[in-house]
Amino acid sequence: MYIGVDLGTSGVKLLLMDKDGKILKKVTKEYGLSFPQPGWSEQNPYDWYDYTILGIKELISEINPSDVKGFGVGGQMHGLVILDENDEVIRPAILWNDGRTTAETDYLNNEIGTDKLAKYTGNIAFAGFTAPKILWVYNNEPDNFKKIKKIMLPKDYLVYRLTGAFSCDYSDASGMLLLDVKNKCWSKEMLDICHVSEDMLPKLYESSDVVGTVKSDVLADLGINGEVKVVAGAGDNAAAAIGTGTVGAGRCNISLGTSGTIFITDSKFVDLDNNALHSFAHSDKGFHIMGCMLSAASCNKWWMDEILRDKDYAKAQEEMGNLGENNVFFLPYLMGERSPHNNPKARSMFIGMSMDTTRAQMSQAVLEGVAFGMRDCLEVAKEMGINITETCICGGGAKSPLWRKIMANVLNIKVNTLKNDEGPALGGAILAAVGDGVYPDVIEAAKKIVEYDSSIEPDAEIAAKYDKAYDFYKKLYPHTKDLFQ
Ligand code: XUL
Repeated sequence: MYIGVDLGTSGVKLLLMDKDGKILKKVTKEYGLSFPQPGWSEQNPYDWYDYTILGIKELISEINPSDVKGFGVGGQMHGLVILDENDEVIRPAILWNDGRTTAETDYLNNEIGTDKLAKYTGNIAFAGFTAPKILWVYNNEPDNFKKIKKIMLPKDYLVYRLTGAFSCDYSDASGMLLLDVKNKCWSKEMLDICHVSEDMLPKLYESSDVVGTVKSDVLADLGINGEVKVVAGAGDNAAAAIGTGTVGAGRCNISLGTSGTIFITDSKFVDLDNNALHSFAHSDKGFHIMGCMLSAASCNKWWMDEILRDKDYAKAQEEMGNLGENNVFFLPYLMGERSPHNNPKARSMFIGMSMDTTRAQMSQAVLEGVAFGMRDCLEVAKEMGINITETCICGGGAKSPLWRKIMANVLNIKVNTLKNDEGPALGGAILAAVGDGVYPDVIEAAKKIVEYDSSIEPDAEIAAKYDKAYDFYKKLYPHTKDLFQ
């Protein structure tokens, strides 16, 4: 049996999978997220480890623990974890959706220059990437910077605690802006720019490579006799892509989680002529491009939980009106925006209300605003000549049939749903099974394990209405962005 883990922003999700891909049990453990200053976002790496161990104990409580043979993690990307010479965490992890690095991002893009960054890494700097965070610690917390012995990403901290192996896979390393993505090695130039040396960085692996085995004291605590192999794992989006069968070239997956991503695969490295997207390595040994919205399902959660204080999401959606006919618009920039605007200072707004505007219209505008934001990313891919006709959809937001329908019509592509929407945790378990030799590679494993359910085709009339609405929506950000500086 294999344990797959999704080390997420709101909590850790774990699943137990047998070697045929059958999911036997799932456990979720939630933990906190702190916003110590506006636009900052931090978490305590010790919580990740403690809650994962608690989760594993619950996951294996009804089986013979020694049947567990492998472990694989998909983790929230880009987060900066720094350890001192005693392997203690120096400061809370700075997360993917943290927007404090405007000055460092501007320095990288404007003074080092986007051409050089793209040459060294394949990408430009985005505020959420790891390199600007390293520079932020260098500029603002010099005492902490001096103590750094190891720099790692969130899931790699978990792997390090479990195995003692200081490792990272290429998909997750791609989001650090320290990796030469095309050549799959650390960029010497970027390390110099960020004042770090290669011995502070993990050894690089393919996602399904075994990097070590679980340490004996951890095995004893879990009641496991025998060996548990741990694979390098993947960034959560590359892990989710495995769990949705988005492997091999020319496939697309959309994830509506805390963040929203559109993930398009290729067998070769993609040279971006438009830097609004990311060009990363995939967990199937290929490559992909990706657009990332910082707030997706989290927009709806914020609106329903914090503002309307209504937990009945389904009922709120039943009350919504005809698709494509809403006069109210919502800009989904609650945490600033990554793709395509690269602006941590962008902010959300509702626009277009009148005296007869209803709560249902505003709720619908939130779902539609996220879909329009995703369309912004798809339009950038289209400009690059990438023509997507269908996508898979996963994540918490994808559980809503209405939101899936809105996505299909706003993007005007077929949207496929899954029988087992387990996202990164399933990807992690599949990687563990591949690492243990059950499947020859990730592509074969996903073919055998991933099962599709229904599809939604766009409706020509609704899609045409949404096209018109999108023409209006896309004017809103350029008209309002200077208000938030
Ligand atoms: C991707 C990104 C997010 C996080 C969410 O670039 O920043 O999707 O990985 O966990």
